Amino acid sequence: MPERYQIAIDGPAASGKSTTARLVAGELGIQYLDTGAMYRALTLDVLRRGGSPQDEAGVLACLAQLELDWRADTVWLAGQDVGEAIRDNRVSVSMGPVCAMPAVRAWMVDLQRRLGSRESTVLDGRDIGTVVFPAARFKFFLVADLAERARRRQLELAGRGLAVSLEELMSELERRDASDAARSTGPLRQAPDAERLDTTLLSLEEQTGRILERVRRELGRS
Ligand code: DC
Repeated sequence: MPERYQIAIDGPAASGKSTTARLVAGELGIQYLDTGAMYRALTLDVLRRGGSPQDEAGVLACLAQLELDWRADTVWLAGQDVGEAIRDNRVSVSMGPVCAMPAVRAWMVDLQRRLGSRESTVLDGRDIGTVVFPAARFKFFLVADLAERARRRQLELAGRGLAVSLEELMSELERRDASDAARSTGPLRQAPDAERLDTTLLSLEEQTGRILERVRRELGRS
């Protein structure tokens, strides 16, 4: 049986991780796991139950009953595909405290390791190369200028019929990056052995191509 491997793709919000990771996985014919979607699903569950994302005891009570799954390239909450619902802005703006809770992170990391090690997988997130799979065979850290990331997020939202100003998006992204980088458990940080890829001036095809080239070169050698 061919050896299983993990490809970790980390980086700040809207740096193109998810789209790139999905395309890379598709090209290689391996599993894709969106770890941010899992934190989003828990936050969505807390909000749906009328809880507050700041209330640690309430969040942990939700976590204890959480029926979270990843199948068919999407995230499931109690048997329901919530891939769309988790992108709601209410979820985006209230995720910070949930993602910083050590017990939440330990639970998520455990599930991500189980899902990501049963077959070769591309995982995107903030702490994949540092915490979830520190021994991943491939590690990339995607970055892009704030203005470019805001522009990409604006296009994505426009595709869903939502008009949000660049200024608003830039300040939201800045706030999220700061909260992701500042938490003490699993902060956003480049692993020392990760390859940094600045995608500001790259097209999606180019950034996907760079990753695929490197992975295929190394897999071809073994
Ligand atoms: O990638 P995303 O924007 O969908 O991630 C949603 C949030 O989840 C983001 O604010 C950071 C957090 N996250 C995390 O803390 N650890 C991960 N491995 C992935 C995402």
